[in-house]
Amino acid sequence: MIEAYGISHEYGSGPTRIVACSVEHFVVSPGELVLLEGPSGSGKTTLISILGTLLQPQVGQVRIAGREINWRDTTLLEHMRSRLIGFVFQAFNLIEALTAGQNVEVALNAADIGGQAARSHARLLLERFGLADRTDTRVSVLSGGERQRVALARALALTPPVLLADEPTGNLDSEHGEDVGRLLYGLAAEGRSVIVATHDPRLERFATRRLRMEDGILTALTV
Ligand SMILES: Nc1ncnc2c1ncn2[C@@H]1O[C@H](COP(=O)(O)OP(=O)(O)OP(=O)(O)O)[C@@H](O)[C@H]1O
Ligand SMILES: [Mg+2]
Repeated sequence: MIEAYGISHEYGSGPTRIVACSVEHFVVSPGELVLLEGPSGSGKTTLISILGTLLQPQVGQVRIAGREINWRDTTLLEHMRSRLIGFVFQAFNLIEALTAGQNVEVALNAADIGGQAARSHARLLLERFGLADRTDTRVSVLSGGERQRVALARALALTPPVLLADEPTGNLDSEHGEDVGRLLYGLAAEGRSVIVATHDPRLERFATRRLRMEDGILTALTV
């Protein structure tokens, strides 16, 4: 479960002041796949970054798996980011010079899982995403859909209870967009809290809840 409350985050001052995110109470329980929709600049990435502890809000607090964030405790923050939260970014942020398997291993290494254990676990994860035959291929030659699945495998390497995805299908054709929707749905059904910022109507039918963000404010959409 992930929870944000009393959040307010602004940029600029005076006439250029922008309320990027203003959220009174936002809770996502295990089993939910929540879509964050809304126009460009409405604050989706800002909210995702706050939930993921990558951005400290000027006002407000975040609680993940029952633990309040202490923004000064860098050890705790690192632990939360590596163990409790999986991130998938639009640009994937994979390491181009490494193979698909090695990219997943990097996430495992961060949690002190190395050597043969990391290699075999990475292979299993990639298999799950239909990439068994791509484990030893450098990501620089993979297709957009394949990269997306490597990014998902990496985000899930440590089976985090929370998965945050920012425009995960932005670069995918229609067939792969659907695949990612189905995968995200399955991950929520296993008991994760999954939050996805997206403009992609292909993901709508997989959502358990849809929210719209406008000028930093969240409103519920009826599904
Ligand atoms: N570091 C920053 N400094 C100043 N303004 C910022 C900064 N980051 C975001 N903003 C502004 O805050 C608002 C919300 O931005 P955000 O990236 O959260 O929008 P978004 O909904 O993710 O948009 P998109 O759909 O285009 O990705 C925008 O007006 C943006 O210009
Ligand atoms: Mg964004």
